[in-house]
Amino acid sequence: MRLLIAGWQGQVARALAEAAPACPDVAACAIGRPALDICEMKTITRALADVRPDVVINTAAYTAVDKAESQADEAFALNRDGARMLAQAAQKRGAAVIHLSTDYVFDGSKAAPYGEDDPPAPQTVYSRSKLEGEEMVRAANPRHVIMRTAWVYSPVGSNFVKTMLRLAESRDRLGVVDDQCGNPTYAPHLAEAILGVARQIAGAGPDAPWGTYHAVGSGSATWCGLAREIFRQSSARGGPGAEIDAITTADYPTPARRPANSRLDCDKLQQHFGLRLPDWRDGVKDCVSRLCPTPTD
Ligand SMILES: NC(=O)c1ccc[n+]([C@@H]2O[C@H](COP(=O)([O-])OP(=O)(O)OC[C@H]3O[C@@H](n4cnc5c(N)ncnc54)[C@H](OP(=O)(O)O)[C@@H]3O)[C@@H](O)[C@H]2O)c1
Repeated sequence: MRLLIAGWQGQVARALAEAAPACPDVAACAIGRPALDICEMKTITRALADVRPDVVINTAAYTAVDKAESQADEAFALNRDGARMLAQAAQKRGAAVIHLSTDYVFDGSKAAPYGEDDPPAPQTVYSRSKLEGEEMVRAANPRHVIMRTAWVYSPVGSNFVKTMLRLAESRDRLGVVDDQCGNPTYAPHLAEAILGVARQIAGAGPDAPWGTYHAVGSGSATWCGLAREIFRQSSARGGPGAEIDAITTADYPTPARRPANSRLDCDKLQQHFGLRLPDWRDGVKDCVSRLCPTPTD
């Protein structure tokens, strides 16, 4: 199976590029800007011609959720128009597309985890641009799998785990939001699931389970619970730690409003692809061990 991964420096792209070589049946090529810019059709066409993929995985996105509030044009150009161009070009070459989307398409008012059929109600520029991206991908390429993920962290890039460990280097106490709940997702676990989906859809016809899926780490936490687990794991390894004060969203205002409930139900991914991501604590353990190595590692 030949894979073209759009994006190469992002958390998910790097996790995919790390995991793919271990799969004997997979030849994966991760290409990012400037060689592949998903807003430049010329570069998309060239990358597709060079790699001749069975499946295109789109990890490229405008992910600066707060900045998007004042940069709507940039967010839509990438998350909506770029997503459409890539899916369309893949379709023309007979390649399927796996497109990543977000829990933020929901407003967070539901009391239970969101299913794929729950009505989206995006509340911010980023989430609207991602939802419109989903719609574009569905229209452009019937051979698509949209995977909505959330709260992604990894040993690379900017993410909550790295931020907590960095802040704990210089501070003894941190206030962390405890009234937003979601599913922390370790990028290497997500990458395994994406590769599992890719394997099952490469070359598949109309009967394959095309559509929209939720793909997040098993189990849920608040940001505060996640921070406590990070410091528990880190302290056990002699790494940084800090006392945590539970605060509310109102105590920590951000330009883009976050949903109170971001939890996603992943049963559909299990039913159609036989895939379930490991528990989020397993991901934190691996991530912290990579960020805080001990002499015996
Ligand atoms: N991170 C999360 O918590 C989270 C949550 C829910 C959903 N998601 C979704 O998951 C996907 C992957 O997220 P991530 O955390 O891996 O994102 P990320 O680390 O922010 O990486 C995004 C990548 O997109 C690339 N990119 C930006 N503009 C591009 C363009 N015009 N052409 C090609 N590449 C471009 C960037 O490349 P440069 O390095 O060149 O800037 C960057 O490496 C995204 O679709 C995101 O919306 C993420």
